[in-house]
Amino acid sequence: MKRMLSGIKPTGRLTLGNYIGAIRQFIAYQDEYELFVFVANMHAITIPIDPKILRQNSRDMVALYLAAGLDPNKTTLFLQSDLPQHAELGWILTCHSYMGELQRMTQYKDKTAKGETGITAGLFTYPSLMAADILMYDPDFVPVGIDQKQHVELARDLAERFNHRYSDTFVVPQPLVEKVGAKIMSLQNPTKKMSKSEDNPKATIDLLDEPAVARKKILSAVTDSLGVIRYDVEEQPGIANLLTILSALSHEDIDSIIKRYEGKGYGELKQEVAQVVSDFLTDLQAKYHDIVASGSVDDILKAGNERAARIAYKKVAKVKRKLGLSIIK
Ligand code: TYM
Repeated sequence: MKRMLSGIKPTGRLTLGNYIGAIRQFIAYQDEYELFVFVANMHAITIPIDPKILRQNSRDMVALYLAAGLDPNKTTLFLQSDLPQHAELGWILTCHSYMGELQRMTQYKDKTAKGETGITAGLFTYPSLMAADILMYDPDFVPVGIDQKQHVELARDLAERFNHRYSDTFVVPQPLVEKVGAKIMSLQNPTKKMSKSEDNPKATIDLLDEPAVARKKILSAVTDSLGVIRYDVEEQPGIANLLTILSALSHEDIDSIIKRYEGKGYGELKQEVAQVVSDFLTDLQAKYHDIVASGSVDDILKAGNERAARIAYKKVAKVKRKLGLSIIK
């Protein structure tokens, strides 16, 4: 069975973008692949975050993974910070990453281009930690949204570099980016990615938004004045985004949706998207509340941590041997 791994960082509440770009894939693949999914909480401290919020976001993330359909009997679900091997391998891979490579990572480049201050060294080197998260488990595929593809490519480069220097150690993974939904856009500025760290609440749909609130957000999504329903990311990014959301949640092809909307207006399309989003959230949140009430999150994480730790322990031991770090015979 081929292996697959992915994670999400709990810097904020999960958005519909995280669901469509990532979580939806995890669920679809869990029968076909040996799947590892984790809470990337060590990544969340690369920016300042209130410990209470971090804890809450992390617990919510596990409950939402489960509510969305991840089955802990099939998928290994774990908490990154419970496995010290991630930081250990992260450091080792940081020592094999070049400054130039990390400087080319778009997230770092964007922040420096905007003149942001207070960028931590952790934010700069986090792609090396992400490479460690991935290479630790030898996955064949890493399902991500388009914004994370560059980081998976760095993980590939690091795997190849390491294998070449010290002999075969890591599987070289492939990013898996879906055709539809790899980048869900902000509802208020559809040329920008929908993001957990967005300040304007009208721009994102949180998976824990009241369905009625989410409905309003869709109805007030920014579109354009062309008045025709087509899929044109350049000219009509707002409409393209609504079509993508509808297609991802209803499993109907974008072409078929467009046919249905020939001669119809934006109002009708928004109403349908609002309904589909609100139904989706109602169902997801009912499951989420059941899971939280059942108190099963801790046990599921404990079992997942143990399973992941067995692999991580062996991998780091092997890497340390190859590097000449272990000396006791
Ligand atoms: P993060 O937490 O920013 O995003 C988690 C996943 O959600 C996808 N995503 C989106 N997809 C579509 N539209 C959007 N608007 C959208 N926003 C986010 C992301 O592409 C990603 O797949 N560094 C990673 C977390 C991480 C990781 C890993 C992922 C740490 N280690 C190892 C994979 C493998 C991150 O910050 O993702």
